[in-house]
Amino acid sequence: MSRAALIQSVIGLGPAWEARPGWFEQHPAALSRQAEAPADVDLAPVEPPAPPRTDIVVQPEPTTLVAAQPSAKLPPLSAEPPPIASPAPEVLPLLEWDALERAVRDCRDCRLCQTRTQTVFGRGNRQARWLLIGEAPGEQEDRQGQPFVGRAGQLLDNMLTATGLDRDRDVYIANVLKCRPPGNRNPGGDEIAACQSYLIQQIRHIQPTLILALGRFAAQTLLQTEKGIGQLRGKLHSYQDIPLIVSYHPAYLLRNQPDKLKAWQDLVFAKKTFGRLSAD
Ligand code: URA
Repeated sequence: MSRAALIQSVIGLGPAWEARPGWFEQHPAALSRQAEAPADVDLAPVEPPAPPRTDIVVQPEPTTLVAAQPSAKLPPLSAEPPPIASPAPEVLPLLEWDALERAVRDCRDCRLCQTRTQTVFGRGNRQARWLLIGEAPGEQEDRQGQPFVGRAGQLLDNMLTATGLDRDRDVYIANVLKCRPPGNRNPGGDEIAACQSYLIQQIRHIQPTLILALGRFAAQTLLQTEKGIGQLRGKLHSYQDIPLIVSYHPAYLLRNQPDKLKAWQDLVFAKKTFGRLSAD
């Protein structure tokens, strides 16, 4: 039996994970959320879920602590235009939360202000111990002014619920970019640089116990690296001394169902790490 198949059977998913997409959606705790989902949400329940066994914990790959290098430079996330250098986090002024929200709402620091419907600041509990950071608003988020309200958000909510986290009580969710890139294109390096101080200030206000970076833009921006998700997940990193774990972006998981198993392993790793950090 392959290692992947063994892990699947150990956590109660059976060897047919790939044939049964939608495990997160079918988790008993997540089913109640589905009732609230808009009709066009593709959550595709296929058969009753195989709930994960709670007596066995998936061991993540060996943990290493990789410190993010504080740097004024951003990684070259797109060929052009080049990133604008931004000041190191510690020298940025910290606006009060309400002033920060207003600054984001009125921001005209990059071209995205011309095409957005509205800015998307964040959602959740400002006192939450978990901070989840995504990439940028999509079409639904741009319309509603809230992060992760589209299909990727439905999946994220279900994943959180399956992990025992309440999206309103236990987490705060923000994005690297506060405005939607037109056509859902990738964020530009200059746009990330222009927006970076808002995210940094959100992190400084929230001071989470653990950051979960969802997708490569969040991970690469916070860790100042060009490494891909495959190299970054399964390790404990840190951003400005805050422990940080990397996982796949939910929108990627919608297109790559088999990697949901890895995303589940990341969440198990994160939950375990959070428990250890909270006990310290
Ligand atoms: N994808 C993101 O990264 N953020 C959102 O808010 C929505 C989709």
